[in-house]
Amino acid sequence: MQTMQLAFSPFNVALASETDFAGWRNAARKLALNDIAPQAVTWVVDASAAKEEETLPEAPEKAHLDVPRSFVSRAEAVICHSDPERFALLYRLLWRLRREPKLLEIASDPDVRRFEAMEKAVGRDMHKMRAFVRFRRIETSNGEHFVAWFEPSHFIVERNATFFVRRFTGMCWTILTPYASASWNGETLSIGPGAAKADAPAEDAAEELWQTYFQNIFNPARLKVQAMQKEMPKKYWRNLPEAALIPDLIAGADEAAREMIARMPTQPASHHTKAQALHWQVPDAHAENDDGNYHSLDAVREAAKGCRRCPLWRDATQTVFGDGPPDAEVMFVGEQPGDQEDIAGKAFVGPAGKVFDAILDDAGIDRQKTYVTNAVKHFKFEPRGKRRIHSKPNTSEVQACRWWLDKELALAKPRLVVALGATAALSLLGKSIAITKMRGEVVEREDGLRVFLTIHPSFILRIPDEAEKQAERGRFLNDMRAVKRLMS
Ligand code: URA
Repeated sequence: MQTMQLAFSPFNVALASETDFAGWRNAARKLALNDIAPQAVTWVVDASAAKEEETLPEAPEKAHLDVPRSFVSRAEAVICHSDPERFALLYRLLWRLRREPKLLEIASDPDVRRFEAMEKAVGRDMHKMRAFVRFRRIETSNGEHFVAWFEPSHFIVERNATFFVRRFTGMCWTILTPYASASWNGETLSIGPGAAKADAPAEDAAEELWQTYFQNIFNPARLKVQAMQKEMPKKYWRNLPEAALIPDLIAGADEAAREMIARMPTQPASHHTKAQALHWQVPDAHAENDDGNYHSLDAVREAAKGCRRCPLWRDATQTVFGDGPPDAEVMFVGEQPGDQEDIAGKAFVGPAGKVFDAILDDAGIDRQKTYVTNAVKHFKFEPRGKRRIHSKPNTSEVQACRWWLDKELALAKPRLVVALGATAALSLLGKSIAITKMRGEVVEREDGLRVFLTIHPSFILRIPDEAEKQAERGRFLNDMRAVKRLMS
């Protein structure tokens, strides 16, 4: 292969926008097929000059550019990175891939490392946007509209917009960012220019609900400031209504923890129903076509958001999927999310979760190192006045949701699973188990998976007699100590 010597007349490629992947691909194809060396090309973003790209040499007739498909889809993510060097890096990789087809497998190669780091950074930024966009309601001449302001680190608005369409299909919304905006009118998605923060409405009634909700779910006993900042970097705090509470909550955490321990388990607050209305989720209409082949827990979690395998999704706020490191040694399986889990989108954060956390701590098990999930992923309840009362899932709901639990087991491959209560045992073992008789035992399934049986922590909460409650707590602690021994 001969490289064209173009040291004196470099090629300038002007792309139409920061995320002009089609423009980059078109130019890169022509350049690569003419074997133009990466150092002879400069890449800029200039919408007005973009037509100049036509001056590039045409690709030789019938020439075919053979590039791994995965490179193309990963390059589509990397082009959203804010590093101005990304276009050149992508072309350099493309050019090198023609000579070194296995290049992307060389993890120590500096270009590959940079490529991977950029891909990860874009993925993380997209995740943060999904987690931290907060809509504010405004009235327009066409009715209700929801507007959010977000400051991404990378050019991810276009790439993330379809997620928000799927999630909030039923409402009209606009997400404003400094470099681009995305707008959905119920039928059409449009991408427009960037905006200033002042263009977004400052506050509305929903903020109060978020703040009350955040204060209610804040668990001072589990406060880990560094971990919290890692998950919710300070950069995002200023655009989150609940973030205004964080400094006070952190400062009062010790006192609040003491109060919390002394308090009886909380009842779902009346504002939860309203919060549910504001935080609704529209199931993914395409979920039914899913082929069920997922390669990561994140991919399954994403797919489960649109689950319609049983009717429970209709009344629940959202799917509450399992959470924890993908390589956790132990997986805890509860029954189903409760009122607070349904709102928070996270398993075991309500009263039963607090008992569970405290006993795990006493047993020396770090919850952060375990995977915690439920047999059923949607909250089933009976409305009673303003409250939502937990209702036990039936066998067909457990059976329907086993699809997701099986995926979690297949991907996380825990060495030990702990069934917390009869519903979890039914899902994991396929038959009814008398938990009080078999607690503390390990049952080995046909596939070799070891299932440790114990009670559900909410059982402790329901015991009215204090002495009996403490005795049951002690028995559960012993079970968790046994789990700890089995883990190692
Ligand atoms: N009970 C459960 O089984 N799971 C939860 O997530 C919360 C309460």
